[in-house]
Amino acid sequence: MKTQYLTPQRQKQAVEILRRGGLVGIPTETVYGLGANGLDPEAVKAIFIAKGRPQDNPLILHIPSPDWLSRYCKDVPDAAYTLAERFWPGPLTMILKRGPMVPDVVTAGMDTVGMRCPKHTLCRKVIGALDLPVAAPSGNTSGRPSPTTAQAMLEDMDGRIEAILDGGPCAVGVESTIIDLTVTPPRLLRPGGVTLEELETVLERVEVDAAVRRLMAPGEKPKAPGMKYRHYAPKAPVTVVKGRPERTAEYIRERLGKTSGVICFDEYGDHFPGHAVETLGSAADQAAQARHIFEALRSFDHLDVTDIWAQSPADTGLGLAVTNRLNKAAGFHIIDLS
Ligand code: TXA
Ligand code: MG
Repeated sequence: MKTQYLTPQRQKQAVEILRRGGLVGIPTETVYGLGANGLDPEAVKAIFIAKGRPQDNPLILHIPSPDWLSRYCKDVPDAAYTLAERFWPGPLTMILKRGPMVPDVVTAGMDTVGMRCPKHTLCRKVIGALDLPVAAPSGNTSGRPSPTTAQAMLEDMDGRIEAILDGGPCAVGVESTIIDLTVTPPRLLRPGGVTLEELETVLERVEVDAAVRRLMAPGEKPKAPGMKYRHYAPKAPVTVVKGRPERTAEYIRERLGKTSGVICFDEYGDHFPGHAVETLGSAADQAAQARHIFEALRSFDHLDVTDIWAQSPADTGLGLAVTNRLNKAAGFHIIDLS
């Protein structure tokens, strides 16, 4: 299959392909998604094949507005509408009870479904014109870092999907926050573009799923099936170093081998001469760190780097999402100097 590269002007073609059951790479404000008509079981099956995604890992549905929730979900609690009012369109996915319209293959047989209303203008135009919910996981091959540009998605999906719609680099850079509203108190399953602190301004209490901050033990099951897989990992092993940036930079510098790579804050970009260095943004700029984390992880796969050392951001605000992705990429191999 030859994958067509579509500029924003050719969005109509993306809509047509989706309507007849094809797969299209679509931009969102978080990461690129691998989209299909969410009500077409055959189209949704093709997503799993293109990604090499385990069958037991459900997909989320992308909708244009909160009033679509009642079409695809049952017993929608008031909290869902309150959250939608505050954070939609935007990087928040809500887990709700699934309605009968949603195909089994979308939810991997679960009785809940993830719903998200994205903010990216071009994405919204496509979903609006299609007038159907779009099932879309992140557009990476299963296990690889999520793509935040059309080029990154093509690295994984060229020849596996009909088209990719280029909406430019993603503004947020990490995936949506996932909150499970079918349990009391609501539970944060994946940190993302909407921070825990922001959710807590709307919800009285939020429980953080254990899988967010630590490695699951064998046999232990996180509530979001996708959180159990080794994920976001570049080919070379990653070690994360936590603590004050001046100390972590020094610690890393003393341990680098000839072919080691480094992920660091902008302030330390020139501390590691002779090494492959990826900068995330300033130590104080969490939004920049979120935008760059996946590209940083991906970039080392193009280089002959045998091990990667990363300065860890703090895990407050957007930092909870960035450290979650970094720690998972490292298989939770973390050195704590703090
Ligand atoms: O920002 C995003 O959410 C991106 C863009 C494309 O919208 N999408 C995305 O999808 O990250 P994906 O499939 O890569 O990650 C969705 C996560 C997976 O870990 C999956 O297991 C979990 O959501 N999930 C989906 N449905 C669920 C459900 N009913 N209950 C619990 N977890 C669910
Ligand atoms: Mg994903």
